[in-house]
Amino acid sequence: MIETTEHIVNNSIESDYSKSISLEHRKKFAQFFTPFPIANAMAKWILGNKQLETVLEPAFGLGVFSRAILNQQKKINIKGFEVDEIILGNAKEYFDDFENVNLQLQDYMYNDWKNKYDGIICNPPYFKFHDYDNKNILKEIETNLKCKLNGFTNLYTLFLLKSIHQLSKNGRCAYIIPSEFLNSDYGKLVKTYLIKSKTLRHIIVIDFEENVFDDALTTASIILCANDNLKDKVQFSNIHSLQDLSKIDEIINKYPNLSETEQTYSFTELNPEIKWKAYYQKQNSIKFKNLVPFSTYAKVVRGIATGSNEYFTFNLSKAKEFNIDEQYLLPCICSAKDAKTSFFTKQDFEELKKSNKSVFLFNAQNSTDKNISSYIQKGESEEINKRFLTASRTPWYSLENRKPAPIWVSVFNRSGLRFIRNEANISNLTSYHCIYPKQTSLFSEIDIDLLFAYLLTDTAKQIFEDNSRQYGNGLQKFEPNDLNKGMMLDLGLLDKQTSNHILKLYKEYKSLILDNKNGDEIINKIDKILIDEYSEKKRFS
Ligand SMILES: C[S@@+](CC[C@H](N)C(=O)[O-])C[C@H]1O[C@@H](n2cnc3c(N)ncnc32)[C@H](O)[C@@H]1O
Repeated sequence: MIETTEHIVNNSIESDYSKSISLEHRKKFAQFFTPFPIANAMAKWILGNKQLETVLEPAFGLGVFSRAILNQQKKINIKGFEVDEIILGNAKEYFDDFENVNLQLQDYMYNDWKNKYDGIICNPPYFKFHDYDNKNILKEIETNLKCKLNGFTNLYTLFLLKSIHQLSKNGRCAYIIPSEFLNSDYGKLVKTYLIKSKTLRHIIVIDFEENVFDDALTTASIILCANDNLKDKVQFSNIHSLQDLSKIDEIINKYPNLSETEQTYSFTELNPEIKWKAYYQKQNSIKFKNLVPFSTYAKVVRGIATGSNEYFTFNLSKAKEFNIDEQYLLPCICSAKDAKTSFFTKQDFEELKKSNKSVFLFNAQNSTDKNISSYIQKGESEEINKRFLTASRTPWYSLENRKPAPIWVSVFNRSGLRFIRNEANISNLTSYHCIYPKQTSLFSEIDIDLLFAYLLTDTAKQIFEDNSRQYGNGLQKFEPNDLNKGMMLDLGLLDKQTSNHILKLYKEYKSLILDNKNGDEIINKIDKILIDEYSEKKRFS
């Protein structure tokens, strides 16, 4: 019989258990335990709900969270779910004496959907999608949450979705999960749900030098949610050591007030499509050495503005209708959607043309062709010549003089900057900016392919992100000068061998993409080479 007034406020039960059971068994059930000080900090969030009566611990293990909660408030009713009989047996030896703790040998994902709780606290199992019965669980969630899920997700995100659904009014939820979901495709869905449900309050990114969870993880995040309508802002914090845990206490004590930090965003500013490290890793560029302004190597200019795209853009059937010969049509990408991959080839252009997409601009200066004259007259009768842009040109139907740019970059982004190599050598409208590598200065000349390979990496995008404009709805916008003034790694410092290595990888990437295959791994390799060369290791200085 255990003395009910005292609780084990350290990880001694967990270490005894770990010693008594094989690692294989623990791995089978994803049994990695939360350090007590972290469990305790998370418990304070739950206890901050003044109406707290019921608490759920969905992946019970040895009940570290329940111990932390009961240690402060003995009367709370707790329900725990656990699928492993053995660990539950161990937990029951400890908890059986508490009438207010109800432990179920049941899979959390398939049970208890109807119940709501004032507090839900959890370190869920982190199984990848192929390690659990994902098909049935997804179905279970889709039916209960009435949403459509992508199969490639990780079980812990599904635990979190279910728990948010089970919060009662003013209920609070604290989860500790790998930070990976913040920055990976499978996390988009749970991020969308966290925003839509308006329950997300804090994300505390733990970035300890030493491992937090035995050997399982190096980085994790604490997600604090509240179903209370008290806030429409989400704050990101970073903690780097156990000593920093007091920051969590501070955050919790202040709630619903927030401490002054730049890492605070309203729900409308958060974009589930992008990597959220953009919100908690400010000034990405400080991680790197030897940065130069992008304008050292390239010039960014906006694409062609016509003044009336409806009048100036042509597809083949419109050309036929007005009898406009192809010599008076300038090949041009007219919609950002038309370039699907990182390479826009001649073949892509031909295909768009054949499928009657608008891929031309009216370009008929100095023509005496009568069909051209009548199309110009048509423009004048529709007063296209009196528009703001056309009125300032002579003649009004002349196009801005822009050479086709070897690289395009998309202007509005939901998922970060998108660079495209314009191998078709055609012009572009304003949905892309033109990037012209500088080829003039003796010292700054770099290979266009090398520059483009760099632009495809996460590092290039992150460094540019320091200079992006955030739009209210989560869109990022880059004006040409945001990019010109943005920073980049000084690629001119790379030695021949390294740049050749990058160029070789780039060629492999290109052939994969042209073959409709995924090339992410190669880009990651290029990124790694660059990170090794330019991180704070001072190689060049
Ligand atoms: C990462 S451990 C966390 C244990 C404990 N809460 C802690 O933080 O120390 C996850 C626990 O969930 C249990 N588990 C795994 N899948 C489960 C499921 N579908 N339903 C309920 N529990 C599950 C595992 O056996 C394991 O004990």
